[in-house]
Amino acid sequence: MTSKYAETYQSWKTDQEGFWERAASEIDWLSKGGTVFAPDQGQYGRWFPDWECNTCYNCLDRHVERGRRGQPALIYDSPITGQQASYTYEELLDRVQAMAGVMQDQGIGKGDRVIIYMPMIPEAAMAMLACARLGAIHSVVFGGFAAHELATRIDDATPKAIIAASCGIEPGRVVAYKPLIDAAIDQAGHKPETCLVIQREQQLAELKPGRDHDLGALMDEELAEGRTVPCVPVKATDPLYVLYTSGTTGQPKGVVRDNGGHMVALKWSMSNLYGIDPGEVFWAASDVGWVVGHSYIVYAPLLHGCTTIVFEGKPVGTPDAGVFWRVISEHSVVSLFTAPTAFRAIRKEDPEGKLISEYDLSQFRSLFLAGERADPETVNWAAEQLQVPIVDHWWQTETGWCMVGNPLGLGRLPVKPGSPTVPMPGYDVQILDDAGHPLAADTLGNIVVKLPLPPGCLPTLWNADQRFHDAYLAEFPGYYKTSDAGIIDADGYLSIMSRTDDIINVAGHRLSTGAMEEVLATHPDVAECAVIGIADKLKGQLPCGFAVLKAGVNRPHEEIEAELIKLVRDQIGPVAAFKIAVTVDRLPKTRSGKILRGTMRQIADKEEYKMPATIDDPAILDEISEALAAHGIGGAG
Ligand code: COA
Ligand code: AMP
Repeated sequence: MTSKYAETYQSWKTDQEGFWERAASEIDWLSKGGTVFAPDQGQYGRWFPDWECNTCYNCLDRHVERGRRGQPALIYDSPITGQQASYTYEELLDRVQAMAGVMQDQGIGKGDRVIIYMPMIPEAAMAMLACARLGAIHSVVFGGFAAHELATRIDDATPKAIIAASCGIEPGRVVAYKPLIDAAIDQAGHKPETCLVIQREQQLAELKPGRDHDLGALMDEELAEGRTVPCVPVKATDPLYVLYTSGTTGQPKGVVRDNGGHMVALKWSMSNLYGIDPGEVFWAASDVGWVVGHSYIVYAPLLHGCTTIVFEGKPVGTPDAGVFWRVISEHSVVSLFTAPTAFRAIRKEDPEGKLISEYDLSQFRSLFLAGERADPETVNWAAEQLQVPIVDHWWQTETGWCMVGNPLGLGRLPVKPGSPTVPMPGYDVQILDDAGHPLAADTLGNIVVKLPLPPGCLPTLWNADQRFHDAYLAEFPGYYKTSDAGIIDADGYLSIMSRTDDIINVAGHRLSTGAMEEVLATHPDVAECAVIGIADKLKGQLPCGFAVLKAGVNRPHEEIEAELIKLVRDQIGPVAAFKIAVTVDRLPKTRSGKILRGTMRQIADKEEYKMPATIDDPAILDEISEALAAHGIGGAG
């Protein structure tokens, strides 16, 4: 098939508003209020400013009303507990209404914030949809974050309620969520009024009388009564959710997603980018705590009338590296979306793909990868083993959907290894130098997107318009700064090379080294510290912390290093995967006092490095090299 990409992209360029107005016809609106884009509103304009809608209605009710009542909407597959369940569109709608009813009885309504802290169970998706139904704004916090991170989000989002499960289950351990929630509420200045808890049999939570409620039991009552809860009309520009993501400091950024533009963009992406038809089974093997989970476990597949999969397990070890193939074949998945790390993990366990041949994957059509760099070695292995198109695509929590990809629905374009291919309609992606001048093809520079951003992208940060402006719009006026660096070749193909800030990517999880430095600095023996991301064959990057101890500290350094590791796990959470702490006498700096993190990373990664011209004392680099070698890392460059 000849790709319709070029003509589609051109039609967007010629008439942006017309393009998105046509895409918006796929959504059911309560009212269409005239203008499609208001350039003078918000931080860079607003999409569908006066249109009214409800996201839950578009995800559930309209499918029940129009022939999908008995189709599975959500399949829960949990190799970690051995459980499975399937909910038709009608059953999912009933449960979402039951949950919305419970929430309504707790006084939760339009505009209220609700934090959702849950593992990968169906109730997590139900909670998101119930919020959407009521016009409440959800903020899902990933289960691998510790109490302190949860407290930070509680204080920023000031939620009326927390919806949680009693525990999550990780290989070999049950993670009790309730004590983490109690600790977070203790730490936070803001106190949520209500905590609604799904009791899981693996570990029941203790419920504080008055504040905490057994959500499952209350939902059962609502279901028995057949409670219906109407969808609350919201403006397209009203927030659907706030999702916190790592910034350059310990204060995460609350990415705001609106209702209307989000639906329009996601619906468009399902057919045109992912090439999926309504009724098919789409599986994003991620977590609802991440943007991929928001967009492609919950909202996009349901908006499109697909069946989605909520998978509670890991690519390996639950029970083996064949679990992805089992899920694909058992549930007739046509397309899988995951992070390259998952495939690196599978390949490590099953390099010859023997487990793949045990399953019938005949209906499986495509694999989408995002969240981190898709290394060509892993992509080639996956292509050889699966014999389907492997599509690398690039996006961010901020954008909510793909910026650059290979649109299977429009017709696949030739693949260039290492490149996620071309910009989607909506994104005019350019490369600028640090002074903001456009760069020639094949020249490395800052990747920016010409404003306005398309529907679906963040309009601002939660309660932080100025921070939004400073972080994304100020440096390159007229453009959105992605904080990624890369090149565009003469054919318009983009390659992502690195971040331009201190964000690292660990197993597809976005983490801030600045936030980790803030934690290390709180240790009473630490005078100064630096955290860098070093290369890791499985997880892409791993954090590595350096600490200079205060004068007079004479405890064993290994003891302090172990305390530093525990501190980051306790403060940020296990997801930080912070397992390397190195005490050193001094940190390498420029004469003006800037820590040479880039050179330290090159030493750790055994890359060739040039002695920085401005270095204060070159001998320190040898000390770093020796300290790393003592921890089994790197060597002299
Ligand atoms: N709740 C509590 N703890 C969690 C958690 C959760 N939801 N998710 C992860 N953790 C813990 C893990 O148990 C692990 O703890 P440990 O240090 O005690 O072993 C730690 O956080 C680090 O987790 P992770 O980086 O995921 O590593 P892992 O060793 O458990 O698994 C992979 C490695 C590659 C299998 C796993 O990272 C993976 O499946 N990656 C896919 C990437 C992905 O889904 N990305 C989402 C964006 S698309
Ligand atoms: P997140 O907000 O967690 O989705 O992380 C976004 C960041 O992950 C981007 O800014 C990139 O640095 C990186 N990233 C995401 N997708 C890709 C990709 N396909 N190739 C390279 N890097 C990617």
